[in-house]
Amino acid sequence: MGATLIDGKACAAAVESGLVSRIAALGAAPHLAVVIVGDDPASHVYVGAKERACERLGIRSTRIDLPVDTPFDDVVATVEALNADSDVNGILVQSPLPDGMDEIAITGLIDPIKDVDGFHAENLGRLVQGDTTGLLPCTPAGVMRMLEWAGVNLSGKNAVVLGRSRIVGMPQALLLAQKGADATVTIAHSRTEDIASVCRDADVIIAAVGRPEMVRPDWVKSGSTVIDVGVNRVEDESEKGYHLSGDVHADVVDVAGAMSPVPGGVGPMTIAMLMENTVRATEMQR
Ligand code: GUN
Repeated sequence: MGATLIDGKACAAAVESGLVSRIAALGAAPHLAVVIVGDDPASHVYVGAKERACERLGIRSTRIDLPVDTPFDDVVATVEALNADSDVNGILVQSPLPDGMDEIAITGLIDPIKDVDGFHAENLGRLVQGDTTGLLPCTPAGVMRMLEWAGVNLSGKNAVVLGRSRIVGMPQALLLAQKGADATVTIAHSRTEDIASVCRDADVIIAAVGRPEMVRPDWVKSGSTVIDVGVNRVEDESEKGYHLSGDVHADVVDVAGAMSPVPGGVGPMTIAMLMENTVRATEMQR
């Protein structure tokens, strides 16, 4: 029997439709500013999708494209100008920044009340303290919403997060362990011994390592829930020259009880949660 598909696109559509009345109640449309430095092709695809979501919902968006050789101080000045602009409600600096540019320093400059990525130490610190009412990182928050929507019970269950990144793995582990979610959480990473057996103990696996098809069917306990956060470009002979692959092997569908696809799983949820954060930030500012 194959796993039930957790349809991130449908869940994201439900999140977005829930925002319509909140946006209307704001009177003036929220305004999101997205800064992108350099020409990482995947980042341009993601930012395009964020802009289209804004358009769908009547959220204003401004995109600031900076060349790859922009000096650090100019990126700082761009963020500071957006902080000072009372017409801007949300600020996002797309990751990755060019090699050598300090992402944490840039993140730390964003006014926490406009930090729609939820990466500022003040917003992450609230999460560590158990306050989930503020601006939460979009991808892990989207995974939580998707699990809830799919009716996955986390309480007392073993959840394994593969990957310990600032953007996904670490905040994901915190959200899973929060009161109310109540999972027992393991963070597995490149130094974890016998990662396959750690995964086989899991009721829920969140794969966020960025390694194509790393999670194999023999890593997965029968009936467990597997969420695939990976979006990996794998080169091939096609016209495009590549295809997208998740961190989870397709054959896991034969073992898992429920599984999110790539594409159409976590990706649309990340964008929906960014829209929700933009609305939330605007509500807090008004
Ligand atoms: N790059 C990949 N995911 C994200 C994200 O959620 N936010 C930002 N700013 N950059 C990203």
